[in-house]
Amino acid sequence: MSTVALVPAAGRGERLGFGMPKAFVPVRGTALLAHAVRGLLDAGCVRHVVVAAPPAEVAATRLLLEAAGLPALVVAGGADRTASVGLALRHALQVIPDTRVVLVHDAARAFTPASVIQAVVTAVEAGARAVIPVLPMADTVKQVDAAGAVLATPDRACLRVVQTPQGFDAATLVAAYALADSATDDAGLVEKLGIAVTTVPGHPYAMKVTTPFDLAIAEAVLAAQEGQ
Ligand code: CTP
Ligand code: MG
Repeated sequence: MSTVALVPAAGRGERLGFGMPKAFVPVRGTALLAHAVRGLLDAGCVRHVVVAAPPAEVAATRLLLEAAGLPALVVAGGADRTASVGLALRHALQVIPDTRVVLVHDAARAFTPASVIQAVVTAVEAGARAVIPVLPMADTVKQVDAAGAVLATPDRACLRVVQTPQGFDAATLVAAYALADSATDDAGLVEKLGIAVTTVPGHPYAMKVTTPFDLAIAEAVLAAQEGQ
């Protein structure tokens, strides 16, 4: 039985503004995608990695991973994140038929600690059908209308920020993607099936690199990890 990590990396990185897909943007000399794949393989509980790359960059992505000595399968991604994950999932099930646990992990969360990856896999292996790493909210959150007027202040104690990797037993994720619906995270699709999603503690280092500010933070995170 295999644990397979799907890595959506087919985005354009527009908010980062490097003029290249975010997966290729270097952090201390190494592409974000290579950091992310290395983190998954080094966690010790992931057997296969399937990357969804920008469709025009599949060959370049294979070369990048090969040069970094990182064994991973690479497929062409889709028009949005959900499509990219769906394509990677289909490929994984075709070529790795004994897939039992599936992680979905953003290439943009390249510095997620091994302990978070391991906690997600352990929870799925223990019987949870869907597991997500979460953090408490540091800020108060307001619900607003289209004009920006405040409608409500949800109780912050009941809110969580969601990270990846999100982990699923393979049958659950397949059923979620069979919905042919869209969501900003994979657990959102599982919720639509009425299946319980459970949480494990996330980590600040599992932050998503979205903006140049985040990239500066990521440089500092990597420096801290390399110093350990
Ligand atoms: N992603 C993907 N396929 C897409 C769009 C996004 O695989 N068609 C991936 C991204 O590569 C990233 C993750 O989904 O690893 C989260 O997306 P996001 O942070 O929005 O990355 P980008 O879409 O690349 O960034 P932007 O929205 O700023 O262009
Ligand atoms: Mg995007």
